[in-house]
Amino acid sequence: MLNKFTNLTKMNKESNQGVQLDLSRVPKHVAIIMDGNGRWAKKRGLPRIAGHREGMKVVRKIVRRANQLGINALTMYAFSTENWKRPKPEVEFIMKLPEQFLVTYLPELIEENVQVRIMGEEEGVPSYTLKAVHEAVERTKHNDGLILNFALNYGSRYEITSAVRKLALEVEQGNLRSEDVNEKMIGSYMMSNDIGDPELLIRTSGEIRLSNFMLWQLAYTELWFTDVYWPDFSEADFDSAIHDYQNRGRRFGGV
Ligand code: IPE
Ligand code: IPE
Ligand code: MG
Repeated sequence: MLNKFTNLTKMNKESNQGVQLDLSRVPKHVAIIMDGNGRWAKKRGLPRIAGHREGMKVVRKIVRRANQLGINALTMYAFSTENWKRPKPEVEFIMKLPEQFLVTYLPELIEENVQVRIMGEEEGVPSYTLKAVHEAVERTKHNDGLILNFALNYGSRYEITSAVRKLALEVEQGNLRSEDVNEKMIGSYMMSNDIGDPELLIRTSGEIRLSNFMLWQLAYTELWFTDVYWPDFSEADFDSAIHDYQNRGRRFGGV
């Protein structure tokens, strides 16, 4: 039997990559802020939407890689509650991408045992977008491979506010005492609760901020930033992030 390192060295050779990863220590849940589509396009004299289209292909590539590495879940920030501020044609284009992505790739994702999920506020999202995503969720719900969790119309403050509201209602109705509210309970109201907190967060494009993404869940997550624009992000970049993660000392406040 091949050992865990040999195995991956072979995989790395196949995709012409350099870093050696320990497959027994890959993060279970990786979250990605896919940023830089617009600037990627601008640099090429293309409209911003060209960057979004290119970015969609990269999602496919990284999902395949994550699956190869045995990662359990990938949460991808696709559209934030703040992104409605963008010009209407751009928003419309982005909202058509999930359908395009799934028409193109759903058969392959099913083949690869991927389970598609969505987190975010559905209100305001066009019905054609929801229809495509719900269909993918339904058709893949029994798959037990990689969880591909799209954050669509997602905002962390919205998520936390909804959680507080639900808890307040429980107290109001006499089902819960305020002194019994604890971290676990609050966490259980987060949309990604059953996936667990991400061990690693990746953000592309050189911006060093969270932009309202998973504020509760990222409390002890390892953060990894790169200047690479999302459409240029490669499997090798992804591997580098995992490699860095594997070389960090996670202490969680201990020694
Ligand atoms: C990320 O790329 C995609 C979305 C936010 C939908 P951007 O569109 O933010 O690209 P930049 O940051 O303007 O380059
Ligand atoms: C964050 O990127 C949202 C997504 C990647 C979907 P933005 O481009 O919207 O974030 P800011 O505006 O740079 O903070
Ligand atoms: Mg951006």
